[in-house]
Amino acid sequence: MNRPASDAVRYLTGITTTGTPHLGNYVGAIRPAVQASRTPGTQNFYFLADYHALIKCDDPARIQRSTLEIAACWLAAGLDPEQVFFYRQSDIPEIPELTWFLTCVCGKGLLNRAHAYKAAVDKNHGAGTDPDTDVTAGLFMYPVLMAADIIMFNAHKVPVGRDQIQHIEMARDMAASFNHLYGPHFTLPEAAVDESVATLPGLDGRKMSKSYDNTIGLFTPAAQIRKQIAGIVTDSRAPGEPKDTEGSALFQIYQAFATPEETESLRRAYAEGIAWGEAKQLLFERIDREIAPMRARYQSLVENPAELERILRRGAERARSVASPFMAQLRQAVGLRDLASQTTSKDAKKTEKAALPAFKQYRETDGLHYFKLVEPGGRVLLQSQGFASPREAGQAVAALRAQGPAGLGALADQIQRPHEVSENELGNALSLLMQAD
Ligand code: TRP
Repeated sequence: MNRPASDAVRYLTGITTTGTPHLGNYVGAIRPAVQASRTPGTQNFYFLADYHALIKCDDPARIQRSTLEIAACWLAAGLDPEQVFFYRQSDIPEIPELTWFLTCVCGKGLLNRAHAYKAAVDKNHGAGTDPDTDVTAGLFMYPVLMAADIIMFNAHKVPVGRDQIQHIEMARDMAASFNHLYGPHFTLPEAAVDESVATLPGLDGRKMSKSYDNTIGLFTPAAQIRKQIAGIVTDSRAPGEPKDTEGSALFQIYQAFATPEETESLRRAYAEGIAWGEAKQLLFERIDREIAPMRARYQSLVENPAELERILRRGAERARSVASPFMAQLRQAVGLRDLASQTTSKDAKKTEKAALPAFKQYRETDGLHYFKLVEPGGRVLLQSQGFASPREAGQAVAALRAQGPAGLGALADQIQRPHEVSENELGNALSLLMQAD
């Protein structure tokens, strides 16, 4: 199995390259991702989903410009391209190749049920037109491409918004189908939805979104941001009149940038009747304080596309150093093989075994006997407590091998699942082992 770094939890997410990042993207996705990318014990993949962009956008100049701006935003916001894998989807030819492999194991019915596709069909029904009107095969295949993005790198966790959860579930389905047919090659990914991240309201109070045309640009020039902020909808209360923080978009945006103390002080100012103009000035200053230091880096990147191109190509090289040997393994698995090299079925068994998690039994200096379940790269999925004899430890292992995840309950007191390993993940590993036995 493919293991870029042995024991790290791998996070992966894609950013579709249409549009220009706004404050809502920054607060909801960019800022938390940059912070998360610095968490020890994690390995992070962030990529520009430009193949996905082609599904929604047929304006080449816009695709190019958006890719440039989004890449510059992420780097300006502090993403360290040497610390994480930061690349452009279209620089990784293994992704469309894997898309085809998955296309061949994915039921058409699964794709029929995808929300985005169904919404398009429903709309046509509503309009009384042919159900396929304006539905491209690209839209239909969107979940397969996305599954390839994710399982190409054997991601464990995929940070996404709620609207994307179904896509992650479909990726799991495709990974499981492939594993079932060809052996345990893929990790089954899980969505990671961060409930604590605020959705930012836009100028009109609805969720900040390009489709509502109510956004404040992230790196638009300061003077323009000031103008946009002046356009935030407020009520008509006069200076001196106490104001409601409840339902105030201005207040919520402020809160997304401010410390709790700063937020409290604005709350007081509301109660004391701060003028809307003054509150808008405070908001502008607070946002500018966070954004201004990044703006110079953003400008310099956007003005030096060659530098950005170099960074992305370097990122692609690093990502391909993972993807390309893994793809070779997958080609082998499905039978796209060198005709001159015949593997015996015994060899095949061996490689398959090597890709599986394994139980390790050992004795500690406390004289007790332990076991753990370890992925090929060394990541621990399960740790036992000490047993008095090797026989007892062996019996527990045998029970888990024979019963798979169903054996976990009876051993609940004797085993521990490390915090970063989810129940699902452990269950999958045990099922794989059971299938292989
Ligand atoms: N579909 C995602 C979105 O619209 C973008 C995306 C493409 C993605 N490939 C991905 C997200 C892989 C997570 C993992 O937001």
